[in-house]
Amino acid sequence: MLDTAPVRTGGLLDEISTQVDDALETLRDLARGIFPAILADRGLIPAVQAHLTKSASSARLQPDASVVRVRFDPRLEAAIYFCCLEALQNAAKHATDAPVRVGLSALDGWLTLQVSDDSPGFEAGPHQPGTGLQGMSDRLAAVGGTLELVSVAGKGTTVYGRVPFSVAAASHAAESRAEPNSALMR
Ligand SMILES: Nc1ncnc2c1ncn2[C@@H]1O[C@H](COP(=O)(O)OP(=O)(O)O)[C@@H](O)[C@H]1O
Ligand SMILES: [Mg+2]
Repeated sequence: MLDTAPVRTGGLLDEISTQVDDALETLRDLARGIFPAILADRGLIPAVQAHLTKSASSARLQPDASVVRVRFDPRLEAAIYFCCLEALQNAAKHATDAPVRVGLSALDGWLTLQVSDDSPGFEAGPHQPGTGLQGMSDRLAAVGGTLELVSVAGKGTTVYGRVPFSVAAASHAAESRAEPNSALMR
């Protein structure tokens, strides 16, 4: 085409170049979404906060002092992070416009996530557990944890996800800044 229609070819190449840039940007966003660098680098609280900011969510993150600047085994952080995203998605989808709170704590050997929304809630039983809840449950079970859902019609829904952690395997973020790759003791 360069020989027979050089002007049109130039236009096409410009178009292709723009499309390739867009595709790369989408791919980068996707990769960041699948496993955001901030989760690996800085841990749960900054990663959840970054997600809330990026998705323009009004949900409030309320971490307990027991998780502030503390790092856990990356598998536990990933399990809790992705459950949190799914619970937030459910709240946005099934409890539209209701205030949502995200709690995190690490007490008595359990790293715990709590995502609560104010309404409409649903009665336990009649709803169909979809792939979302099943995926959360499977992900937590894979690291020894459990998922519990408490919902009361008219009063809202709370999702509790928890995974066991050992104190020896948690480390403080201040240490991990000095040695980013080796401070996570397993
Ligand atoms: N925060 C919530 N508020 C009200 N209903 C919910 C909430 N989370 C889950 N549900 C109910 O549980 C069902 C299963 O959730 P899920 O497995 O994530 O599937 P999906 O979101 O694709 O419907 C939902 O269809 C909905 O009826
Ligand atoms: Mg869902």
